[in-house]
Amino acid sequence: MSGRNGKHHHRVLGIDIGGSGIKAAPVDLRTGEFVEDRHRIPTPEAGGPGAIIDIARELCEHFRWEGDVGCAFPGVIRRGRTLTAANLSPEWVGMLAEKTFSDRLGCPVTMINDADAAGLAEVKLGAAKGIDGVVVMITLGTGIGTAVFVDGRLVPNTEFGHLKIDGVEAEDLASSRAKDDDDMGWSEWSARIETYLREMESLFWPDLFVIGGGISKNFDKFGPRIEVETAVVPAELQNRAGIVGAALAASAGD
Ligand code: BGC
Repeated sequence: MSGRNGKHHHRVLGIDIGGSGIKAAPVDLRTGEFVEDRHRIPTPEAGGPGAIIDIARELCEHFRWEGDVGCAFPGVIRRGRTLTAANLSPEWVGMLAEKTFSDRLGCPVTMINDADAAGLAEVKLGAAKGIDGVVVMITLGTGIGTAVFVDGRLVPNTEFGHLKIDGVEAEDLASSRAKDDDDMGWSEWSARIETYLREMESLFWPDLFVIGGGISKNFDKFGPRIEVETAVVPAELQNRAGIVGAALAASAGD
């Protein structure tokens, strides 16, 4: 860690950019706990970089932040560049987002895919802690995000939310947005998740599925209905996972 934040060098501000809200909190890296209450600002409709970076600045100001920042983004991030943005504006594609954020926030920013962040948090501190073998994290939100781990090591930027099943993208079939759009009840929606998990199971043969995203707090309403061979557990950090994982990612290189 850079230690810019003096005695709080074990703290990183985690920011989670989502399709509906942008959330942040300072995270204690040793425990994964929020040091202050989370702050949320709705995602602007257009989802363009300018407006979202302004919000990230506002979040830094809210916490009077001057140290390291980890930022979870709902798209592919390679070497600091945003390469996709399925549920935000196409203006993100190809942008040197990590550098632009760092310059605009005046803090060192590390960016990571949002599902990868959530998975990291679960592997380090949550439902997949200490699990050997292949763990597949799936976040159900505006889109579907995936993160694949082998003995705790991430294979970054897997995009199996865009897997097509009978010609339909998984995130149009089984995301929580699809549940709302198609006005599905728990039973209909869990059948769709089951279809998706069966497909993923046949391709990965994982040891564990971890289901995250805000809706995972209602796991008892859909989880028990899902019948697959693989163990399926809800994320333990729930909607904290993106923020915590982003903070962990920012500390990983130090
Ligand atoms: C994006 C992924 C992201 C997921 C969840 C998908 O549409 O392509 O990168 O992880 O949504 O936000």
